[in-house]
Amino acid sequence: STGLPDVRERTLIAVKPDGVQRRLVGQIIQRFEQRGFKLVGLKMLQASQDVLSEHYCGLRTKPFYNSLLRYMTSGPVVVMVWEGHNVVQTSRTMVGHTNPAEAMAGTVRGDFSMHVSRNVVHASDSVEGAQKEIQLWFQAKDLVDWDCWVQTSTS
Ligand code: TYD
Repeated sequence: STGLPDVRERTLIAVKPDGVQRRLVGQIIQRFEQRGFKLVGLKMLQASQDVLSEHYCGLRTKPFYNSLLRYMTSGPVVVMVWEGHNVVQTSRTMVGHTNPAEAMAGTVRGDFSMHVSRNVVHASDSVEGAQKEIQLWFQAKDLVDWDCWVQTSTS
């Protein structure tokens, strides 16, 4: 370790079908931008059963699993990769408790949702989980390693 913060940590954030249908994509992106995280991947798609069963493989035996997959295939999702210091843990805080009834006001779920079965957004829950999810949803070539220095003044 260099002792420096890992500014290259990445996480997978997805706006679920209810969030897309309710026109919340822009507000969710805005929260991550204003926090200072860097968007390095973004796409909209209809999620496949194959990808979702891999994404939620740890929940296969849960009673809500089938309805979860039906919900997640009910419309398009917007999948994003965000980068920055401690982005995995900070994103979980910004997204709020899985059950919106317990999510704090000021979090995405606390502000936009009231039921666990329609909780608007996904955020990876660990650095290792994020790496797996990013590989599952994105090809390496579709992630952009960018930096820019914009000239904001002519003086
Ligand atoms: P989980 O991985 O436990 O939560 P999180 O999304 O916060 O990481 O669960 C995955 C999704 O499954 C969750 O976002 C919504 C759905 N779900 C239900 O529909 N009912 C439930 O009781 C739970 C725990 C989750």
